[in-house]
Amino acid sequence: MEENKKYYITTPIYYPSGDFHIGTCYCTLMADALARYKRLRGYDVFFMTGTDEHGQKIEEKAKAKGVTPKEYVDEIVAKAKDLWEVLKISYDKYMRTTDDYHVESVQRICQKLYDQGDIYKGSYKGLYCTPCESFWTETQLVDGKCPDCGREVKEVEEESYFFRLSKYQDRLLKYYEEHPEFLEPEKRKNEMINNFFNKGLDDLCISRTTIDWGIRIPFDTKHTVYVWLDALTNYITALGYTTDNDELMKKFWPADLHLVGKEIFRFHSIIWPAILMALDLPLPKKVFGHGWLVINGNKISKSFGNYKDPRVYINATSVDAVRYYLMKEIAFGEDGNFSENLFVEKTNADLSNDLGNLVSRVTAMVEKYNNGIIVKNDNLPVEDIDEDLISVAKSVVENVEKYMDDLKTNEAITEIWKLVSKANKYIDLSTPWVLAKQENKDRLNQVLYNLVECIRIIAIPLQICFVDTPEKIFNQIGVSKDETTWDSAKEFGVLKDGTKVTKGELLFPRVEMTEELFKVEEEKEEVVEEERKGIITIDELDKVELKVGQIKTVEKVAKAKKLYKLQVDVGEKELRTIVSGLVPYYTEEELSGKQVVVVTNLKPAKLCGIESNGMLLAAGDYDVVKLLVLDNNNGTLENGANIH
Ligand code: ME8
Repeated sequence: MEENKKYYITTPIYYPSGDFHIGTCYCTLMADALARYKRLRGYDVFFMTGTDEHGQKIEEKAKAKGVTPKEYVDEIVAKAKDLWEVLKISYDKYMRTTDDYHVESVQRICQKLYDQGDIYKGSYKGLYCTPCESFWTETQLVDGKCPDCGREVKEVEEESYFFRLSKYQDRLLKYYEEHPEFLEPEKRKNEMINNFFNKGLDDLCISRTTIDWGIRIPFDTKHTVYVWLDALTNYITALGYTTDNDELMKKFWPADLHLVGKEIFRFHSIIWPAILMALDLPLPKKVFGHGWLVINGNKISKSFGNYKDPRVYINATSVDAVRYYLMKEIAFGEDGNFSENLFVEKTNADLSNDLGNLVSRVTAMVEKYNNGIIVKNDNLPVEDIDEDLISVAKSVVENVEKYMDDLKTNEAITEIWKLVSKANKYIDLSTPWVLAKQENKDRLNQVLYNLVECIRIIAIPLQICFVDTPEKIFNQIGVSKDETTWDSAKEFGVLKDGTKVTKGELLFPRVEMTEELFKVEEEKEEVVEEERKGIITIDELDKVELKVGQIKTVEKVAKAKKLYKLQVDVGEKELRTIVSGLVPYYTEEELSGKQVVVVTNLKPAKLCGIESNGMLLAAGDYDVVKLLVLDNNNGTLENGANIH
């Protein structure tokens, strides 16, 4: 591997919202394709993705689920990793902003910026959208509401630390001018400069006192780092920046490509380079802002509720079909429509018909006409149709390189399909079945050789986009490793005499567009709906044993923030131990002595190592929780009395 052939590519780190959809997969899939491309070309690639795990939203979601923020994000990260496995994302590092190395490095970065005067204390007043964790100015609001999600914003003022972004304004503009390749696509760069530089850059608020779930500002620990200084720095902290273990930083920084969605392009093109300038680090070579996947003009997103789990599409077709659609049908940089009908149409037309049929027809013919054996004979005359085919075949990979290097990924795939079509046409023009009938063995073998050689040349660059199909093709056409290298696809005639071809299973069985094809999730939802609405019989209700219980002792569980260990008298010989998450809502004194409603036949559960035998009934959601307490104004019931 040549020393200078290194490539560091990143996706954004995702919010662990738990709702990964085909839109969120898009960026990661594209980054994966670029990483695979560079690896095929012999680069030492470092491909990073991850999750952006701090902030109020996470804190609130965790609270609503009754778990700690860390427990909440851990669960979602596991799900994200599962999805990336299904999609066969070949990342080299999955970074998490809750990882210790990141937290410590962000603190060191803050301290450095503070010490050198790039961070100062001020006061922030603004209109804040809690779900989006974004501040807006009056003019940015749409109908007085958050321009991103359409929800209410509230006015907030608080003491905050600021990063002197304004100080870097001129340096940034100069940098854009001197490095025209830094920000792409061009139109997004121009849009960003017009929107943000014309009125001058404001300093950036980088801390909050109201958000607990975040990285503490080391010189003022009542503050936590607010969003971008935590999120953007991931690209260097993951490489070991500010630690002794910084070989990756030395090797891979500056990044070659930050791939981001268009709505976060401005943060990557203004704030991130300014932070790097302040840290005296080189800037990434390129930030590319891709478009959104939309359905009927609406961004696919959780807020719009127009998303499905990508597995629905994968299960109905294949990972490669999904990857193909996203890479081929969407002009990289533009918004692209995700249409289920078009997805099926393209899968059938391009994959089943064009590519799948080419491979199955050719391998079947080699088996039928020559027992699966390829014959290479360089002494035969080359006909016009051969020359035509060979010239397309020889140009494919060079054109693919050109387009991939320019990030015109969809055109790169189109280039491969030019050879797929050409080869299919060549079958019609060379009519191997006629040659077989005429017993023109030499020409027949020559035609078959040309076709299998084309399939080899097609399958090599296909590895950029496809994760399963190329291997299947290589197996069917019996090629060895040295016949599948990137550079070998630039030559025609590499396939060896005597190669054994074996027809395999269909690469892409046709898919029929039916109402049910992509319905999986809705069906699941209906079931959940049914369950929620479900009516139970009196017998079923009777299974729940409810008794009056009196709380005798209350003790905080040392290892848990929310849990009390209670000893409850439910009229049995011994007191019951019940562990209950009431710490945020009741003091020990308030609970002690209360008569409450206890579910006494619940299966015991271990909480923080303590076996809990029963449950207290309470009402309310997570902000307000009230225990169901017996009204003892007119006398008391015995502990253990049944409740009907
Ligand atoms: O923005 N089509 O995280 P995120 C295409 N944590 N891309 C889409 C999309 C769609 N319909 N919906 C979402 C964040 N995305 C921050 C990033 S980086 C230092 C911090 C893309 O989970 C979106 O454009 O909200 C973005 O690039 C990525 O998903 C992550 O979005």
